[in-house]
Amino acid sequence: MVSIADILKGRHTGKSVELRGWIYRTRTVGGKAFVVVRDATGITQVTIARDAVSPEAFKAVEKALIESAVIVRGKVVEDKRAPGGYEVRAEDFKVVHFAEKYPIQEDQSEEFLLDVRHLWVRSQRMTTIFRIRHTVFGAVHQYFRDHGFWEVSPPIITPAGSEGGATLFEVEYFGRKAFLTQSWQLYAEALVLAMEKIYYIGPSFRAEKSRTTRHLTEYWHAEMEQAWVGMDEVIKHAEGVISHACQRVAEERPDDVVAMGRTPEFLKAVKPPFEHITYDDALKLLKAKGIDLEWGKDLRTLEERALTEGKSKPIVVTHYPRISQAFYKARDPKHPDLVLGFDVIGGDGVGEIVGGSERETDLETIKKALVEQGEDPKAYEWYLDSRRFGSVQHAGFGMGMERLIQWICKLDHIRDAVPFPRTPGRFAP
Ligand code: 4AD
Ligand code: MG
Repeated sequence: MVSIADILKGRHTGKSVELRGWIYRTRTVGGKAFVVVRDATGITQVTIARDAVSPEAFKAVEKALIESAVIVRGKVVEDKRAPGGYEVRAEDFKVVHFAEKYPIQEDQSEEFLLDVRHLWVRSQRMTTIFRIRHTVFGAVHQYFRDHGFWEVSPPIITPAGSEGGATLFEVEYFGRKAFLTQSWQLYAEALVLAMEKIYYIGPSFRAEKSRTTRHLTEYWHAEMEQAWVGMDEVIKHAEGVISHACQRVAEERPDDVVAMGRTPEFLKAVKPPFEHITYDDALKLLKAKGIDLEWGKDLRTLEERALTEGKSKPIVVTHYPRISQAFYKARDPKHPDLVLGFDVIGGDGVGEIVGGSERETDLETIKKALVEQGEDPKAYEWYLDSRRFGSVQHAGFGMGMERLIQWICKLDHIRDAVPFPRTPGRFAP
């Protein structure tokens, strides 16, 4: 039993192999059938000559429709005309399951493909992205573990949010109100005083009504938090983890990268340090480009596009105005109207890939910030204990895994970075 990827790497040339998969394309010309078979790793052509297999086997080949499951035995030969440069000359061909007529044909609308997402996940486009996603997840785990971070697990059902009430998903919890987590934020700041360097990759939820090409309502969030350090140290980790993911993908999946319209060289060049710019300087730069943004307003797609234009690496924007930022972000001691917060922004319309900050450590300041943002500090009593018992400097960030995958794969829309996307208009299949 071999994988198609290994056939395409020339590892089985001249040998007899057994292959399991599904029919991707099929046509019969005279006494010969050309069946393109797919497995989890790729597609390859199988040729079945009428006189090389049993009459029943050939009948089955002729009858089998797209997505029928098959087991093929045959010899691997190099053939420049075949897709991928190899083909399997069948000695035996068994149809394990005859598929019904497949509903997906060429050139179907995005909406239809989302309706049949449970079938569309079998497409070459989706499986290529899934393999890259697999490598990106592995790389993020590896980066944090290699840098001495402990993996910890925060809850998903929570009594209060940390990123603003407008995007909280409410769930009924035995007659009480609970919320799906937006971020591990509050739990991270409790756990960081126990474990000092922590990370996690898990789902986050945002009841974000805006239909954009970079928002999901359910996404995978890689978050880290570190004690005894400030903003600059965690920015280094943000650059480090993005770079590491790019290096792993470039090395392990060069063909998949090319299939997505990037090159391994492009990803290999994504090395720290990234370009840094303060929010104030970003505004000046935008003004010079003819874009006026009112001080204090968050950067929108338009501004992020202008700032990353022509850049092959993401950029880091620092020192945002406090008024637009979450309550837990630390004030800049030099400019109390700014926070020691940063975003990492990617080009190609992806925008914010990472958001992070140093955290406010003073109990009274943080209580005031909560009130200013219309929150009731009583709901955060347990969290505030992190500022009562051994409060120390700490910082961290959250990275949207689908945003990173969207950027690496150059996807027009974030929904293809995840197998079953959840957006305001869709939570099925
Ligand atoms: O900037 P955000 O809201 O920051 C936080 O949640 C912090 N508590 C993280 C932390 O410091 N531990 O979200 C972090 C990242 C964003 O930069 C973005 O990449 C991603 O999460 N993100 C989304 N991704 C997809 N769809 C959405 N609706 C997203 N909202 C945020
Ligand atoms: Mg943010």
